[in-house]
Amino acid sequence: MTALAEPLAPFAEIVRRGEPLARHTTLRIGGPAEYFVVPRSREQLVAAWRACRAEGMPVRMLGGGSNLLVDDDGVPGAVFHTALLKGAVWDGARVRVEPGFGLERLCREAAERGLAGMEGLVGIPGTLGGAISGNAGGRHAEIGSVVEEVEVLDLDGGERRFPRADCGFEYRRTKLAPFCIAAIVLRLRPGADPAALKETIRRIHEEKASTQPLAAHSAGCLFKNPPGQSAGRLIDEAGFKMQRVGGAMISDRHANFVLNVKQATGADVSALARQIQNKVQRRTGILLEPEIRRWPGGWA
Ligand code: EPU
Repeated sequence: MTALAEPLAPFAEIVRRGEPLARHTTLRIGGPAEYFVVPRSREQLVAAWRACRAEGMPVRMLGGGSNLLVDDDGVPGAVFHTALLKGAVWDGARVRVEPGFGLERLCREAAERGLAGMEGLVGIPGTLGGAISGNAGGRHAEIGSVVEEVEVLDLDGGERRFPRADCGFEYRRTKLAPFCIAAIVLRLRPGADPAALKETIRRIHEEKASTQPLAAHSAGCLFKNPPGQSAGRLIDEAGFKMQRVGGAMISDRHANFVLNVKQATGADVSALARQIQNKVQRRTGILLEPEIRRWPGGWA
């Protein structure tokens, strides 16, 4: 076995080399992570993150892999997977959650406790850490609105607390994306009727299931909605439903969803995205901005 790069040598039991990221993204696409780190505790997360950063190693956080396109050549440096960091401590209307906790599960637990504020987020796949870093949301809610503070490790390894006002929550964007999100404190609204919250959850699920291809391998909406417009409608009107590049296909149900229908590659998805951008821009003058993240280099 090849020795681990020096900064990760002390963490051999939680590090895998060359882990295919296709195993960890909802699109089932993505080449290997040079180092794939799966901390079992906050202490391990902090120590391994600091060790990498002290050597200037590139670092990335991976939650549920649900809003992410990874290129076929994979990513250099360390990918930290939060799958084993799933603690949640409830204290009245507040809850302190570790980043790997599932967003859907948290929405349901909040409803059981009669705590309002999360119910509009059901049907969004992924973890809380991922949801916070991209301010996940939809028509009914955005996660940023219930955040009290976020605890992060910065790129120097320093522990910092960001109260909500400092997180820079905007439409599917925050200032937190480059950091390691180590814990999140949410403040919900107490005193709601659990039955009413569960009914809202049921209704939103039904609404999503009727308009979105929820079961298929996708990464959610490919592009952000331009101000006052629907990206899905613009792509639909440009004729892309069921259009394919290789194994990547635009959903026939919602044109802002790209699906991996037959061993698609990252190159297939990015070529299809580029075709959509070009055609929609020719027709409407609008340049669609990708919503899903792309590793390693972004969309540039
Ligand atoms: N439409 C079409 N053709 C399509 C898709 C949509 O004509 O193929 C039309 C619909 O008929 C509707 C309008 O476009 O009149 C808006 O569509 P929809 O109601 O499905 O909502 P959306 O704006 O496309 C947004 C979020 C979704 C979120 C839903 C529901 C963005 C980019 N999309 O979709 O978020 O689930 O609202 O809350 O903000 C995501 O972020 O990954 C995502 C899926």
